[in-house]
Amino acid sequence: MEKTDILIIGSGLAGLFLAIKTAQKRPDLSIVIMTKSLADTGNTRYAQGGIATVTDLVNDSYEQHIQDTLSAGGGCCNEKIVRMVVQQAPDRIEELLTMGIAFDTKPSGIWDLGLEGGHSRNRILHHKDISGLEIERKLLAVIPQLPNIRLLENQLCVDLSTEKDKTDQEYCSGVFYFNKTRHRIKHIRARSIVLSTGGCGQLFKNTTNPEVATGDGVAMAYRAGAAIEQLHYIQFHPTALYEANKHPFFLLSEALRGFGAYVVDENQKRFLFKYDTRGELATRDIVSQAINSELEKTGKKHVYLDCRHLDYDAFYRHFPTITDYCRTIGLNPQEDLIPVVPAAHYQCGGITVDQHSRTTVKNLYAIGECSCTGLHGKNRLASNSLLEALVFAHQGSEHICKTIDTIAFSSLIFMNKQQSVLPDNPDSGFAALKEELQQAMTAFYTDKEAKTALNTIKQLKTTADQINSKQKITPSFIELINMLTVASLIVEQTKHSKNVTPLT
Ligand code: SIN
Repeated sequence: MEKTDILIIGSGLAGLFLAIKTAQKRPDLSIVIMTKSLADTGNTRYAQGGIATVTDLVNDSYEQHIQDTLSAGGGCCNEKIVRMVVQQAPDRIEELLTMGIAFDTKPSGIWDLGLEGGHSRNRILHHKDISGLEIERKLLAVIPQLPNIRLLENQLCVDLSTEKDKTDQEYCSGVFYFNKTRHRIKHIRARSIVLSTGGCGQLFKNTTNPEVATGDGVAMAYRAGAAIEQLHYIQFHPTALYEANKHPFFLLSEALRGFGAYVVDENQKRFLFKYDTRGELATRDIVSQAINSELEKTGKKHVYLDCRHLDYDAFYRHFPTITDYCRTIGLNPQEDLIPVVPAAHYQCGGITVDQHSRTTVKNLYAIGECSCTGLHGKNRLASNSLLEALVFAHQGSEHICKTIDTIAFSSLIFMNKQQSVLPDNPDSGFAALKEELQQAMTAFYTDKEAKTALNTIKQLKTTADQINSKQKITPSFIELINMLTVASLIVEQTKHSKNVTPLT
């Protein structure tokens, strides 16, 4: 019986920015943000680097940022979208600043612009080494000031509901969700539904992504019939801090290499120049592959990041969180080599959207990491993701504000779909299945054995269904099924990657 004009699923930068902009522009519309855990537990808070934006028009230009993005994307970006995002960036940053977000400046008052791999110029706006956390905290503080937004935590979306309109066209009419406090699956109707559910890094053994990154939005959109594209372009971050038996790994920002840190082997020798003339500042795909090649040759588990030659005071000012974390595990960046390994970090593809953030299902939008906008191509340029989230949240907000008055609520009430759900039981067996999936996907990214990976995914699905048939549905089961769906899409899209063409 519940309804809201706009339903946003996910509470990272993209979802919050869309909610705030829309609520300010249209105070007459009701907006619900649903998130499956606590509001600040998604990927945004872990973004260390910052936001890539051209602010210095003397030493930089939009064209240079556009060319760097296209070059990192390996011929698979949509140039029209790249141009739109880069050129819109200053306006979106201005809006972020009015929402209270602070970026670091130099003593002279000008922006302290960071450098990261693949960028030909310093252009990263950042807040020390916790840019994402700063953004997440400040945006979450704005939400209570807007009475037309309701933020609902601990609500796990299970599936989108779709119906047919008068012209027989399928449209999204709402969402089935699991209320974790009431243990019931319920339905909420909405006129516009926005997926901002983040990525799927939890599919891999080594990842920088938090527990919640289980690909839910992509899986739900796929089941609702939306087009999914370029999903196999998973970006591996070259420098996750290696700690045995840790999942996820702590990120060591690319900004460290921009600041001058070296990647070295066990003999303390730099080796990246053998692979690319830009050395440590080559794009992530190149640096990660280079590290993997060295690891294969040596049989070692990790290489090292060497920060010992850097000015330590300046280093600590820029990277206090990273330094403090290293110290908690007994490593001092001033004296010790830091063990690093590539880890799954970002889903470059996802739910196909146009420049207005519309998916191929009517009334359904997707923004942020779960979407495929055409900006990233094969390999996202560092710090372009928060920028993409801002621009496509804006685009989606504008489109929703313009069109929502013509959209009616569905009149269907899904009473019969209500179903009980059990809280998670740690002994249910789903955690072990998730680990098997992580092993299988990690092996797949090494050996590209699609048949083996698909067989494993199928077997895991059968076992999960068997366990589930003996009990009531649980959140772990829902997430595992989403992960298996996304895993099989990734493997299938890799198999057919010759047919993956740039979006037009
Ligand atoms: C980093 O700081 O290296 C991560 C930022 C990003 O993923 O762009």
